[in-house]
Amino acid sequence: MLSDNFFSFKIAGLSFVLFVLCTSVISQNIVRQNISSSDRIKIEELLKKMTIEEKIGQLSLFQSDGDITGPAMNNNDNKYYKLIKEGKAGAIFNVYTVDNVRGLQKIAIEESHLKIPLIFGYDVIHGHRTIFPIPLGQSCSWDLKAIEESEQIAAMEATAEGLNWTFAPMVDIARDPRWGRVAEGAGEDTWLGCKIAEARVHGFQGKDLKDPHTLLACAKHFAAYGAPQAGRDYNTVDISQVSLYEWYLPPYKACVDAGVGSVMTSFNEIAGVPSTSNKWLLTDLLRKSWGFKGFVVTDYGAINELVNHGVATDEKQAAGLALNAGVDMDMQGSTYLNSLTDLLKEKKVTLKQIDDAVRVVLEAKFKLGLFDDPYRYCKKERQEKELMTVESQAFARKFVARSCVLLKNDNQTLPIPATVKSIAVIGPLADSKRDMLGNWAAAGELEKCVTLLEGIRNHVGKDIPIVYEKGCNTNDLDKSGFDKALKIASSADYVILALGEEGEMTGEASSRTDLDLPGVQNELAEQVIGTGKPVAVVLFNGRPLTITKLNNMAPAILESWFGGTQAGNGISDILFGEVNPAGKLTMTFPRNVGQIPLFYNAKNTGRPYNPKTPDEKYVSRYIDVTNDPLYPFGFGLSYTTFAYSGLTVDTTGNKLTIRVTVKNTGTRDGEEVAQLYVQDKVGSITRPVKELKGFKKVMLKTDETAVLTFSLGKDDLAFYHPDLKKYWEPGEFIIYIGTNSKETISTSVFLN
Ligand code: BGC
Repeated sequence: MLSDNFFSFKIAGLSFVLFVLCTSVISQNIVRQNISSSDRIKIEELLKKMTIEEKIGQLSLFQSDGDITGPAMNNNDNKYYKLIKEGKAGAIFNVYTVDNVRGLQKIAIEESHLKIPLIFGYDVIHGHRTIFPIPLGQSCSWDLKAIEESEQIAAMEATAEGLNWTFAPMVDIARDPRWGRVAEGAGEDTWLGCKIAEARVHGFQGKDLKDPHTLLACAKHFAAYGAPQAGRDYNTVDISQVSLYEWYLPPYKACVDAGVGSVMTSFNEIAGVPSTSNKWLLTDLLRKSWGFKGFVVTDYGAINELVNHGVATDEKQAAGLALNAGVDMDMQGSTYLNSLTDLLKEKKVTLKQIDDAVRVVLEAKFKLGLFDDPYRYCKKERQEKELMTVESQAFARKFVARSCVLLKNDNQTLPIPATVKSIAVIGPLADSKRDMLGNWAAAGELEKCVTLLEGIRNHVGKDIPIVYEKGCNTNDLDKSGFDKALKIASSADYVILALGEEGEMTGEASSRTDLDLPGVQNELAEQVIGTGKPVAVVLFNGRPLTITKLNNMAPAILESWFGGTQAGNGISDILFGEVNPAGKLTMTFPRNVGQIPLFYNAKNTGRPYNPKTPDEKYVSRYIDVTNDPLYPFGFGLSYTTFAYSGLTVDTTGNKLTIRVTVKNTGTRDGEEVAQLYVQDKVGSITRPVKELKGFKKVMLKTDETAVLTFSLGKDDLAFYHPDLKKYWEPGEFIIYIGTNSKETISTSVFLN
């Protein structure tokens, strides 16, 4: 998270450290970081030398005074620099820059008894210095290569500033946009979520964690944190086992299969057991069944929270539950530090359990090469050369444009016609640097961030006069700016209206019950559109919004999410038609909050709603609004149009070969994301009406035609059964291909 105080902290942090010192390419390879036998011997030798306190120290993670990313904990005596010196901290988070990290590492190496290097972690969620679109926005690019590349750049920048561990990717599947953390994920679909999870792990970790340009990744939040009741953050999760296996667990498993080095427990409970004390989840499933080899860290203070959950009477008991469940490292809670020695004496935990946890933490330090050189991430030359490079900015700009989704474009309002002689830019999000970065903006630099207004000015230069009025604030009732806004709208040829949420209205602890545009933005839009000028709305937000009112009024709406450092430039590339938009939604946009949760891969029910007979009474529907979303999963317009035809399925051999013809029928070259969905018509348990099983993103010139081929194995049709076994069942399958989850062509096949 970015804080205004950060720069003052850095200076304060640095001077403090000095004071203490004075006085005392794209990879598809799976990363399996097996530890060498010589390193294994070194770990065993080290274990023999360690006192019990030093062992517990390796299992304790503390934050510095930099960013604060959780509630204040009652451990103020546990000052991190003192703990490092005493060998009571194995890792530190929320500190960066070569000087700050080197200063703390020096305490560990020069002043602690066993000189074990520290790991340095940080929430590098969508970039480090160069901030990319929020993860939800990135997922709308359907561009796995770009997602992987963005993580490579994030890893390069973060490691150039001393970091070697990121608390990412967040792979929580979420179907409820009231939950603010949907911004951090890849949307509602499990299949796509797995592909994106894998791309992110590969991007961060590369082929070898010893490469100092790579970061140890952390799959979070294990498990099912994205399904809190009523979309309220930290709330209870209660889902069936089949749903857990089918929809929520696969992306974490995809991370494990991709070789992720660490996993973070979630704050929530599942079926009455909080994840942080869940032995079945952390040991039986994660380690034994999935073969996870890295270390498990808690989320911020999650062991302490076991007391509030009501499964432990005090933090000491909570620490015992967590270690017994399979938690290796305590984030910020001090519970291991305060209680494990006593718990060991009381035989509530065993020395083997502690040693096993220490082993996996030390292994990570060996994998990162920290025992070869504890300062390998602290190279000043890299910090000077590798941050915010010209290449990274160029990539970020393209990635912004690829993440934008064109939701509406009546009368070809966009792109802005070349005949336009003056533009009015209006709205509270038009010139707000802070909001461009969104939440979890890591070390993102506000002053280097390009707003929409700046991006537009960069585009047109002196050719077209650009006038700007804020009109109103994002989230209050003050309309005093309306008059000025209307005045510039009336005298311009074209209006761009920048509306949405504040960056910090999404992310952690930012659940909302009203998902319409906050404040008086709808009224501003109504009056500006009422001037009769062509108006294109650019939305900035971190979740699907219920913009039914806006959708009824505005001729054109471009969803830009929070685009990060290059937001304004990337959006302008689309507004002026230099880039043809190709983003597609990865989360359904509901019409109103009452429809939530609304997702495309729902069940048919025994009384399905039929849009052709909308007034039919005894069916599964609302009496005040249709079941249909405002914009479905997979939806996104282009400046051109595409037509689908000739869908065939060949079932020769043990697979399905699916072919479809896609033609660019419009007047511009453009990219299309062709989406493949399958419905298993009849099963021993009910199946969703559609499930995404593949996609292809293709560039087609005007009039160009392509035949796309998809291949599915029968295993791709498998699903979890009540006995939690996964297999497919013979029968009829409907194959759908189309431009989004609703507009498809289909055919059906019978498979034995
Ligand atoms: C969040 C995690 C984050 C951690 C450390 C917690 O509050 O839930 O996602 O990684 O803080 O900043």
